Amino acid sequence: MRINWSCCRQLVSIQKLLKVRAGGLHTTTRQLSNSTQARNEEGKREDSIEKDEWTNVTATIERLTHRKLLSNPAHPLSILRDIIFSKFPEREYTRANFPNPRVSVYENFDSLNFAPDHIGRSKTDTYYLNKHEVLRTHTSAHQVESFRVHPTPGFLVAADVYRRDEIDRTHYPAFHQMEGGRWWSPEGMSSVKEFVAKIEADTAKIPVSGIKIVDDTLPFHDGNPRQDGQSPEVCIALTNHLKRSLERVVGEIFENIADGDPSATKEPLQIRWIDATFPFTSPSWEMEVYWQGDWLELFGCGVTQQRVFEQAGHPERVGWAVGLGLERLAMVLFGIPDIRLFWSEDPRFLEQFTPGVVNAFKPFSKYPGTYRDVAFWLKDGTTPEQFHDNDLMDIVREVAGDLVENVSLIDKFTHPKTKRNSLCYRVLFQSMERTLYNDEINVLQDNIRETLKIKFGVELR
Ligand code: PHE
Repeated sequence: MRINWSCCRQLVSIQKLLKVRAGGLHTTTRQLSNSTQARNEEGKREDSIEKDEWTNVTATIERLTHRKLLSNPAHPLSILRDIIFSKFPEREYTRANFPNPRVSVYENFDSLNFAPDHIGRSKTDTYYLNKHEVLRTHTSAHQVESFRVHPTPGFLVAADVYRRDEIDRTHYPAFHQMEGGRWWSPEGMSSVKEFVAKIEADTAKIPVSGIKIVDDTLPFHDGNPRQDGQSPEVCIALTNHLKRSLERVVGEIFENIADGDPSATKEPLQIRWIDATFPFTSPSWEMEVYWQGDWLELFGCGVTQQRVFEQAGHPERVGWAVGLGLERLAMVLFGIPDIRLFWSEDPRFLEQFTPGVVNAFKPFSKYPGTYRDVAFWLKDGTTPEQFHDNDLMDIVREVAGDLVENVSLIDKFTHPKTKRNSLCYRVLFQSMERTLYNDEINVLQDNIRETLKIKFGVELR
């Protein structure tokens, strides 16, 4: 789903009215050793990468892995993380920290039941350090370890994640997610009924959100099945706990906006559950919010696959997990119009925010953008489908970094006689911080064209 974020600017007025105060933000975090850190303890340098034919991490991406935006408590992403964390009791949910985004293919995919041919594993979508290691594509990479080690029945993780992606105002190859999980063990229970009653009692403790959330989904059905071996009562009890926990978080966040938003009465806030599919949960759902004309995905979640608990060494447990992207929600809440701003080191951005407070971002003047087209013939015998957009995106990022707001394919053409294929991409240059000069843009454009020629053997037009 593509979202038009141009509407975000209008939010600013709403945001002025909005002040969310989050209590108890300064939580303790446990440092965990993921497998990479364990290896580091054995003396291997953290940054040593054994390259092979899978390696596709670029220098630009590597630099982003050192930025650690979430360690600044006054960064809007940290403020949002802390607000969300504050809705989960600390004695029940351990806050875990995984500072190193470098994880094994096992942690990111295999442990989570991803099929060997799952599209998410492809080199066009994922940054590989080598055949065995990736930059985590989601915080779910830490589910197994988190379910394995914590003394509490729940955990929360927030971290940077990486995906090869297009370039526009809502997509960036590095972004942030938070993961949550909660488990129960039937040990010591005399019956399923008693076990279900325990889960239901925990559900009853969660405050009910006052906001209306549409739920037309079924507890489970053929298209979104209950797991073999899990009783319907347990599956439903887990689902209720999951949905109530997440409705509370979203409800309390959006309730504040709705209160302060004069347009909220004209267009009531709509939030809904829909069915989803993930390899590591079943049944699974997503929550979406209708925001200025589009359904915007807030998070994915579901009843944890037993295979995950088996991998974690606790096959008897049952539970749920959720994964939530922080950037989109932060864009809505703070009225931040472009995802690149989160990475800005400009004090005019960073100095606008205070820990614990959601305030409206005040845009600094918008500097004019200007575009250049990059057109080329693909190598003989190469179809447009064989040339992947993300390969061009990474070249653009290497050459021009955050000076590019958007890259889009504007023309695709097959020569009627020679059958050669031509592509044309439009690159929109625009800085968040200053005016760009034509001369420097021309140099960048030439550089992008030359790199394309060298790397992909294209013929420039
Ligand atoms: N990891 C999933 C994603 O990035 C989200 C998710 C997390 C879904 C946990 C279910 C449970 O899309």
